[in-house]
Amino acid sequence: MSALFSSFKLKDITLRNRIAVPPMCQYSAENGLTNDWHQVHYASLARGGAGLVIVEATAVAPEGRITPACLGLWNETQAEGLARIAATIKASGAVPGIQIGHAGRKASANRPWDGDDHIPEGDPRGWTPLAPSAIAFGANLPRVPKAMSQEEIDRVRGDFVAAAKRACEAGFEWLELHFAHGYLGQSFFSVHSNQRTDDYGGDAAGRGRFLRETLAAVREVWPERLPLTARFGVIEFDGRDEETLAESIELVRDWRRGGLDLLSVSVGFSTPTAQIPWGPAFLAPIAERVRREAELPVASAWGIDAPATCNRVIEQQQMDLVMVGRAHLANPHWPYQAALALNEDKASWVLPAPYAHWLEKYRPSA
Ligand SMILES: Cc1cc2nc3c(=O)[nH]c(=O)nc-3n(C[C@H](O)[C@H](O)[C@H](O)COP(=O)(O)O)c2cc1C
Repeated sequence: MSALFSSFKLKDITLRNRIAVPPMCQYSAENGLTNDWHQVHYASLARGGAGLVIVEATAVAPEGRITPACLGLWNETQAEGLARIAATIKASGAVPGIQIGHAGRKASANRPWDGDDHIPEGDPRGWTPLAPSAIAFGANLPRVPKAMSQEEIDRVRGDFVAAAKRACEAGFEWLELHFAHGYLGQSFFSVHSNQRTDDYGGDAAGRGRFLRETLAAVREVWPERLPLTARFGVIEFDGRDEETLAESIELVRDWRRGGLDLLSVSVGFSTPTAQIPWGPAFLAPIAERVRREAELPVASAWGIDAPATCNRVIEQQQMDLVMVGRAHLANPHWPYQAALALNEDKASWVLPAPYAHWLEKYRPSA
C-alpha cells in the first residue's frame, strides 16, 4: 500500500488515508445557514474517499463572515444544519471536520464571482470589519476596519469558544481554528496589520497573544479525545520571511504545549504586495521545517495534487496529511483516481460499496 493510503491516527480519531479535503468556502449560504447545496457538496466529497473532509470557514460571529453568503455557527439553527452535514460526511466513511474563524478586516466583501472586493460603505449588505488596528488590507479590500477594544477581543474569543462547543455537539470530530490567510487571527500576528501598543501588539509574544488565548479557551471546551488543529500562515513572502518563520515556529511550539494536535501550514496573505512563489507543492519544504522544528504533525495544501507528489510528501515525512482542494472540486472522486494512479490493489474500495462493486474490474474505454 502506498504511503498516501495508509491510515493516520490522531488522538482517538483514525483517518482511513492521508488525503484531506481542506476547507473551501462555497459562498452559498443565507443568514449563515447550510442548504441543499452544502448537503450535496459535502456528501459528494466524502463519498470520494478522502480520510478527512473539513467544512469551509464558518464564522463565529455575524461580522466575522467574509461575505454575506458565508456559513456561520453563532446560533443553534446553524448548528442543526451543520449537524446534518457532519452526519453525512461520517456516513461516507470520512472524518467530519470544520474550520471556525473570523474574517477580521477582510470581512464584508462581495463573493469572488461578484467582484471579490469590499462591499461599499453605506451599502446595507455590508458592515464595519473588526481588526487589531485600523489599517486596511488595501488593493481590492480598502475598507478601514475598526480597531478592536479589549471588550471586543474578549467577546470574539468567547465566540470562538461557543462555536467550538456547538461544533462538537453537532458531531464534528476535528476542529480547525482559522488563524490564516489575513483573517482576524493572522492579522493579530502580522506586522502588516497589528500596530497595537497594548498587550496584544508589539513583539511576537504580544502579537501572538490573541491566538494563544483563543486556543487555550477553546482547548478547555473541545474534548481531549478529539484533534484540535489550526491553520496558520507561517510565512508571508514579503521579504521578512526568515524572521516571520522563526516567530511562527516559536508560536506553534507554544500552541503544541497548550494542546494543539496538528498545524495546517499555510501562507499569511496579510499584504497584497507579497511575492508568492506559486508552483507545485511549493510549501512542502516549509511544512517539513515546521513539522521538524515545532515537533508537531502537519498538513499542507497549495498545488499538491499529483498523486505521485502527494505520496512522496507523505513518504518523505514532509507532512502527515495532504490537503487536496481544487482537484476535489474538479473531480470529487479524486482519491479513486489517485488510487488507480498509485496502483493500489483495490482502488475502487476507496469509494462507497454501491460504486465500488461495479468499478472493481471496470476500466473506461480508451
Ligand atoms: C473555492 C475555494 C474556497 C476556499 N475557502 C477556504 C476556506 O474556507 N478556508 C481556508 O482556510 N482556505 C480556503 N481556501 C484555500 C484552500 O483550502 C486550499 O488551501 C487552496 O485551494 C490550495 O489548495 P489546492 O491547490 O489543493 O487547491 C479556498 C480555496 C478555494 C479554491
